[in-house]
Amino acid sequence: MYFFLFLLLLIVTCTTSIEGQKKNCNVSPKDLYILEGSDTQILCESFCVDGRVYWMLNNKTVNESWSSSVNSTHHILSLKNFTLSNATVVCHHTDTKGVLGGTIVRTYAKPTVVDCIWHYKNGSFSGVPQLFTCTWEHEVSQKINYTLFVISWYNTSLQEMCSSEIAKTCTAVGSKHVTLAGNYSVTVRAKAKHWEIDSDPYKFYPRDILQISPPKLKLHSFTTHLLAECTVSIPSKKYYCQVKYSKVGDERQSEVLNKTLEASGKGNISIENIESCIYYKVSARCAWDKAPWSKWSRAQTILSQLNKSNVKTHLWRKVTEPEKNGTRKVYAMWTVGKIRIQEIPSACHGTFTYFIRDTVSQDNGIQVDYNHHSCGNSICTFNVNEEAHRLKLIVFHNEEMLSEDSVYVPAVEETGLPQVSNMQTSTIQGVISLCWDAPSPLVRGYMIDWTHDGYEYYWKESNCTSTTLEGLLDKVAYNITVTPLFEDKTGLGTQVVQICTAIAAPANFSTITVEVTDKTASVRWMMQHQDLCSENIVRYIVFYGTGQGPQLNITVNSTNKEVLLKNLIPYTHYNMYIKAVAQTGASESDVRYFSTKSLDPKLVIKLLIIGSITIFLVLSTVICCAVQYRKFLENPLPDPGLSSVALWPSGTHQKGMFPFRLFNYPSESLCARVYLEDSRTTSSPDVCQEEYSGLGFASKSNIPKERPDDPEEAFTQSSSRECTELLANGSGQLSPYRSQGSVESPTQSYGKESKCLLPVNHQQLTASLAMYVTVDIFEQDQCR
Ligand SMILES: *[C@@H]1O[C@H](CO)[C@@H](O)[C@H](O)[C@H]1NC(C)=O
Ligand SMILES: *[C@@H]1O[C@H](CO)[C@@H](O)[C@H](O)[C@H]1NC(C)=O
Ligand SMILES: *[C@@H]1O[C@H](CO)[C@@H](O)[C@H](O)[C@H]1NC(C)=O
Ligand SMILES: *[C@@H]1O[C@H](CO)[C@@H](O)[C@H](O)[C@H]1NC(C)=O
Ligand SMILES: *[C@@H]1O[C@H](CO)[C@@H](O)[C@H](O)[C@H]1NC(C)=O
Ligand SMILES: *[C@@H]1O[C@H](CO)[C@@H](O)[C@H](O)[C@H]1NC(C)=O
Ligand SMILES: *[C@@H]1O[C@H](CO)[C@@H](O)[C@H](O)[C@H]1NC(C)=O
Ligand SMILES: *[C@@H]1O[C@H](CO)[C@@H](O)[C@H](O)[C@H]1NC(C)=O
Repeated sequence: MYFFLFLLLLIVTCTTSIEGQKKNCNVSPKDLYILEGSDTQILCESFCVDGRVYWMLNNKTVNESWSSSVNSTHHILSLKNFTLSNATVVCHHTDTKGVLGGTIVRTYAKPTVVDCIWHYKNGSFSGVPQLFTCTWEHEVSQKINYTLFVISWYNTSLQEMCSSEIAKTCTAVGSKHVTLAGNYSVTVRAKAKHWEIDSDPYKFYPRDILQISPPKLKLHSFTTHLLAECTVSIPSKKYYCQVKYSKVGDERQSEVLNKTLEASGKGNISIENIESCIYYKVSARCAWDKAPWSKWSRAQTILSQLNKSNVKTHLWRKVTEPEKNGTRKVYAMWTVGKIRIQEIPSACHGTFTYFIRDTVSQDNGIQVDYNHHSCGNSICTFNVNEEAHRLKLIVFHNEEMLSEDSVYVPAVEETGLPQVSNMQTSTIQGVISLCWDAPSPLVRGYMIDWTHDGYEYYWKESNCTSTTLEGLLDKVAYNITVTPLFEDKTGLGTQVVQICTAIAAPANFSTITVEVTDKTASVRWMMQHQDLCSENIVRYIVFYGTGQGPQLNITVNSTNKEVLLKNLIPYTHYNMYIKAVAQTGASESDVRYFSTKSLDPKLVIKLLIIGSITIFLVLSTVICCAVQYRKFLENPLPDPGLSSVALWPSGTHQKGMFPFRLFNYPSESLCARVYLEDSRTTSSPDVCQEEYSGLGFASKSNIPKERPDDPEEAFTQSSSRECTELLANGSGQLSPYRSQGSVESPTQSYGKESKCLLPVNHQQLTASLAMYVTVDIFEQDQCR
């Protein structure tokens, strides 16, 4: 029972679900591609709902008039002249606003602007054109295959010519589909994944699309023009040609000449209005009546000839002040056409000769060539006397007169000739402007000449009372002369001198010298020669510094060209430069580097001198002492045998001096003899030297002091004692003193005296007599 109930339910459910599937809501067709601008209809089936529907296109509600309902379940949207490239169309239920379905509508376009030419392969000149190339336009974003079809006047079925992927051009090779006769039409078929469309047919007569080969060009140069001879491959009743020409090196300034040629296929185009002796580049192209232009022929170069009627000679002169005998120098100068004399042979063929002569002197004149002593580059020098002269220049080209001109040189006395007055000049950006007052209404023009060096002159003619001089050198002074011209004479020149093209910066520094001590630097400088056009210097500023800390400066006026930098730090690197300041400009020197000395060199020198003197003194003292000492050693003791006893002059008997006086003469040099008396004595027994030196040393060192306990004294005393002992023992030799009689010095007191010899301060040591005795003791014992 339950089983049957379940089965029934299942059947009912299944039936319902099948019914429901069938009656789904839907919009069709899906993914619709239509031709741009065409009409279409979209169907909305509303089985799933009851009631009305409405449409939305790209989220905007569609005008109700576009939609219609066939019955309660079929609704149709009609799109007319649809151009949107991509649109979403959705069908909504009016009551619930729920979406019943949607679709996307896309449009595509036809290829347009189909254009074809029938042409030759590169390098092929005549015969039937081998190539047929078409181009077209097509707005698409997809990958598209194009195929080109042709329909001929004799065969109306489509014949495929060529195809291309993506590219909007294709070329058919070979001429089997097209001949010169009749008419044709081509169609471009565009094929995408979902659609395919043909362009409108493009109809043509082959002769209208035939692009001929570039013409063959032959150029000829004549004195008055250039001639371009064009030859085309296929003669026609009528065709057009163009000639393009320009100066070599100036191709942008090209000119194009049009010319219609009749029949024959050959035509001449003359190029006029060209300059003399210039290389021109010429090329040509031609076209049949309505057909496209051929490509330009390869450019050819040709040199134009000299147009003789165009050559104008201009002659001018500068006359110097007369010398005492009235002789004047005349510089004759000229131009021929626009071309300077030396430039003509480089481009113009033929021989140019120039004759210049003074018509008054009636000579044949001189032929100007570069080697002529009085002629240079389009200038010749003449000497003329005080009379009026006329110079004439005649130019020949290949022995045929080309042109001539003459110029008047007034006589010295013709001081009353008209002259311009009130000359005014101004300079703006290197261009000098001049104006003046006319001297007479008869003036036919003015000659203006100018120079900056007195050798090279520039000149030009003007027929009004003002002019401008351009192309001048910068910051240079010019002398300018204006001379009025009359029918066949000239007036007097009026000169303005030294007009600067621009004011230059002050002159530059030529030399800078820096002398340094430890704390100062003396800076001197020189300026280069000042040009006429350079500004006057108002002051100089010397900038200096160590690099660390502020840059210091000192200003000096323009008459000073030196400065002393003080308070510098010794032994320090400095940099320094000088600025010459003028009214508006300034010029700076290069940066100079210097280092201050570690010490004042003068001080160093002083110190050196003092030092060397000191050293000298010390050295000499030492040397002399040494010498003295040596002598002292070398000199023998006086032979008491040769001496006589005498009383010491009591006047020199001074306590402090006494010991010295024993061996020295202080009044003599330091190196004086040792012995007071008997300096004849020269030899001394060496054996005693030791004793003696001991004595000498002791005696010297003990002179100023009272030091009875001095060990040296003790030594001396002991050695004395030894000697005394030897003496006392009786050496067998008699002392020479023994025979001498002495009142004040008894022999028995020897020992005592020797003992007291060195302690000179002893009161009882009073006389030289005692000394003799003592010395004698030493000699006597001989230390043997
Ligand atoms: C509505 O119209 C369409 C087309 O005309 C037709 O196929 C369909 O059966 C019709 N439906 C009803 C319910 O009439
Ligand atoms: C094309 O040529 C044919 C045959 O010569 C001629 O009948 C036809 O009129 C021509 N069509 C056009 C558009 O000139
Ligand atoms: C275009 O042509 C190529 C080969 O001829 C083919 O492979 C390609 O599928 C074509 N593309 C379309 C969009 O027809
Ligand atoms: C030559 O012809 C072309 C077109 O044919 C025109 O554009 C051009 O202005 C013409 N030039 C002269 C100098 O007549
Ligand atoms: C050559 O000179 C003549 C006469 O002045 C003139 O008519 C002609 O245009 C000139 N030719 C050229 C190419 O300048
Ligand atoms: C310009 O004229 C002056 C005055 O006559 C003269 O001193 C100077 O040398 C001339 N300068 C030149 C460059 O000829
Ligand atoms: C002189 O003036 C005439 C017109 O009066 C003009 O044609 C000519 O070009 C001028 N010459 C110069 C060199 O300025
Ligand atoms: C010179 O130095 C002083 C300070 O010592 C400064 O004020 C002045 O600007 C300096 N002058 C120049 C021209 O640099």
